[in-house]
Amino acid sequence: MDSLAGRTAFITGGARGIGLAVARSLADRGVAVAVADLDGPALEQAEAELSAVTSARCYRLDVRDRQRYGEIADTVEAELGPVSIVVNNAGVLDSVTPSRMDHTMWDYVMGVNANGVYNGVQAFVPRMIRRRLGGHIVNTASAAGLFVDSHSFLYRSGFLYHASKFAVVGLSESLRVELAPHDVGVSVLCPGPVATDGVENARRLRPADAPAHSAKIAAILDQAQDIVRDQGVQPSVVGELVVDAILRDRPYILTAADNAAPIRARMEALLDAVPTE
Ligand SMILES: NC(=O)c1ccc[n+]([C@@H]2O[C@H](COP(=O)([O-])OP(=O)(O)OC[C@H]3O[C@@H](n4cnc5c(N)ncnc54)[C@H](O)[C@@H]3O)[C@@H](O)[C@H]2O)c1
Repeated sequence: MDSLAGRTAFITGGARGIGLAVARSLADRGVAVAVADLDGPALEQAEAELSAVTSARCYRLDVRDRQRYGEIADTVEAELGPVSIVVNNAGVLDSVTPSRMDHTMWDYVMGVNANGVYNGVQAFVPRMIRRRLGGHIVNTASAAGLFVDSHSFLYRSGFLYHASKFAVVGLSESLRVELAPHDVGVSVLCPGPVATDGVENARRLRPADAPAHSAKIAAILDQAQDIVRDQGVQPSVVGELVVDAILRDRPYILTAADNAAPIRARMEALLDAVPTE
């Protein structure tokens, strides 16, 4: 994409955290922004802030709700014009330990983190292809979608979170190839720790019938939230990296220098497993 001004973007999980930072960075470039989220009060605040900079509208949406997704896509395009940038970012930093695993948590985490991304693609990509005006999709995965690091406290996120984020990486890599002939770029955002309240928010949003965390996991989550807040990259930095990736059509957006070693270790383990003849 040569220029962003005058385009319309749709950003999920955009009422706070990384999503709001991406919305701010796009708004600063003259992009009209449609922000979708579950959280009504946070959406109102986001709309007030973003409207001072650009055309902005906020929409209440659970990204798991396919029917409502389609309705919102129609409303956004009627109010702000054709969407050519989609940021599928809503997600929950949640998982479950193997001893407590159940279908509720699998359906919930995969429902938000993986199906939610697919629902955004399904709602907007066919329209982008039909219009032939090009565009860009950014899907938020995580460094947890690239490797599992058993030595690192922060990169051992639980099998369910890892599974949901690996799914987003695979979907994005393949879509990038399949959408290239339509002039639609695809980037996958794989952040390391970012200073948001994501761990706490995920605890608040957990379904009432989900298995409770053990005392040990609850303590680990408290510690993880503190570390992420204190040591994570600022969301504004990630917002700017996303804009740069859209402009340069970059396939991957990573934020943490310490990801190099575990990525290399995974690639070496895979290469070791390739038969030599
Ligand atoms: N913060 C980090 O360290 C980090 C690292 C790697 C990846 N991520 C990913 O980045 C994304 C954003 O995380 P964040 O840290 O900004 O968290 P956050 O909690 O600050 O923001 C997430 C937003 O998504 C919304 N949301 C949750 N479930 C939703 C649903 N079903 N429908 C619509 N909206 C929903 C929440 O209301 C919230 O406003 C997530 O996909 C997360 O997995 C975060």
